[in-house]
Amino acid sequence: MGGFAEYVCVPQSALARMPAGMSYEQAAALPQAGAIALQGIQDEGEVQPGQQVLVNGGGGGSGMYAIQLAKLGGAEVTGVDNAEKLEFMRSLGADHVIDYTREDFTTSGRAYDVILDLAAHRSAFAYRGSLAPRGRYLYVGGSVGTLLQVLLLGPVLGRAEGKKIRLLAVRLGAKHLAPIVELCQAGKFDIVIDRRYPLSQVPEALRYLGEGHAKGKVVVIVE
Ligand SMILES: NC(=O)c1ccc[n+]([C@@H]2O[C@H](COP(=O)([O-])OP(=O)(O)OC[C@H]3O[C@@H](n4cnc5c(N)ncnc54)[C@H](OP(=O)(O)O)[C@@H]3O)[C@@H](O)[C@H]2O)c1
Repeated sequence: MGGFAEYVCVPQSALARMPAGMSYEQAAALPQAGAIALQGIQDEGEVQPGQQVLVNGGGGGSGMYAIQLAKLGGAEVTGVDNAEKLEFMRSLGADHVIDYTREDFTTSGRAYDVILDLAAHRSAFAYRGSLAPRGRYLYVGGSVGTLLQVLLLGPVLGRAEGKKIRLLAVRLGAKHLAPIVELCQAGKFDIVIDRRYPLSQVPEALRYLGEGHAKGKVVVIVE
């Protein structure tokens, strides 16, 4: 977690053969972000055709996969991110986009069947208010305060209306990626790489990401 190196030791279960037809860069851009999107939209979100799905942080590394998967699942998709990423989210298929610096989707009065939250900073009560009856809110990443609320209050909040508010604990490993790899190989799904940096320029890569400019993935190349 969080390291960059030419040589690493990992458990064998963390490894998989690189899928046929994929470059190293594409394969590197897929595992964690792809698993988050797959589990958030399909396995745990159980997105159905015609549902309203919101991806908060939709212009980032995981969000770009989540928007595409939700569209493939037949949902009407809203992507939320900063102004620089609105066009990018539209290009991925988002039907509606919201600039989080100008609009708080939790106060808009609109309700969603599934909210996948990659940048959770609101209260669990606010998220409950943005869910349609029987809707699901999945916390993936964001503030610790929101995480604690989701863990402590999530199981009871919204229960009367069948709403589910909980943490998505992402399972990693090759077997969890197979469906998404197949979609990539079938050409139904894009891996968008915004920039590539050599290992020697990791600080620049992280700065670019941290400043909020990256649309899709930033890949570090070991030469
Ligand atoms: N639950 C788990 O098991 C698990 C496992 C692994 C990772 N994670 C978490 O999953 C998340 C993965 O995200 P990622 O890889 O997609 O990160 P990312 O590429 O950094 O994307 C996050 C996106 O959210 C945007 N954003 C920031 N604040 C926002 C706000 N208030 N409202 C809406 N969007 C906002 C960011 O835009 P800006 O550039 O403007 O900031 C960025 O485009 C991380 O938080 C990570 O910690 C969770």
